[in-house]
Amino acid sequence: MENLSLYNDDCLTILRTLKGETVDLTVTSPPYDNIRSYNGCVINWNYQTFQAIAKELYRVTAKGGVVVWVVSDATVHGSETGTSFRQALWFKECGFNLHDTMIWQKISPFQHRNRYIQAFDYMFVLSKGVPKTANLIQDRKNKWGGTQVHGTERQHDGSTKARSSVQKGKTVKEYGARFNIWDISPNKANKTGHPAVFPEQLATDHIRTWSKEGDTVLDCFMGSGTTGVSCVKNSRRFIGVEIDKTYFDIARTRILGEIP
Ligand SMILES: C[S@@+](CC[C@H](N)C(=O)[O-])C[C@H]1O[C@@H](n2cnc3c(N)ncnc32)[C@H](O)[C@@H]1O
Repeated sequence: MENLSLYNDDCLTILRTLKGETVDLTVTSPPYDNIRSYNGCVINWNYQTFQAIAKELYRVTAKGGVVVWVVSDATVHGSETGTSFRQALWFKECGFNLHDTMIWQKISPFQHRNRYIQAFDYMFVLSKGVPKTANLIQDRKNKWGGTQVHGTERQHDGSTKARSSVQKGKTVKEYGARFNIWDISPNKANKTGHPAVFPEQLATDHIRTWSKEGDTVLDCFMGSGTTGVSCVKNSRRFIGVEIDKTYFDIARTRILGEIP
């Protein structure tokens, strides 16, 4: 239990109580442009609130720590709000590097008359300096895996040059680091009682990439507690904050249920 700190509160209030540079990784998904109402709970979610939270996230993040911000825009009068990009740029103003704009590819049921079907959310990977942990998942099958390195390689000016003798003759690895577009199906049967759960695999893959065992991971918009569930399973300390009492209780039950 000392590895878990769960708060039923406003995350800005809790963030302000945390010591600076003590969080190694945040994996979180804020309310998307107020697309959903969460259990009828009145949530003060606007750009000013976001800005204050982002500043606090920068303060509490350890040097080399990372924030994974999973978000998407609302479509208003047929076009996107642009809030996601606006948020990413504000994180940069706070001091974060926009380390990578990753994509969570998923099929959405929303169809538009004059636009292609929306099939992704953003996963902005923001880092405080160079990420201190980056265990890239190596599960992409290499087309040339198992064959010998040979031939030429393209130079900066477009010309080709024979590969160096160091590389030549080496065997190409069977698997390489995956692309930054992750195709992860949303939970088929979401039995949590929360309307906007992200898949446990998404949380787990980020946790394993950007943190080590024993590190402290935060989810300041905990919802049903998916990040916390994965932290318990992967031996990370977890700080979770959820403003709504019903969702907080769901999260707490799910997370405590994973403790052996
Ligand atoms: C997109 S959901 C997160 C879902 C979560 N990733 C999961 O897998 O269950 C966003 C959550 O943030 C909560 N929330 C909104 N404003 C908040 C605030 N100021 N402090 C803490 N939680 C807040 C909402 O009640 C909602 O449950």
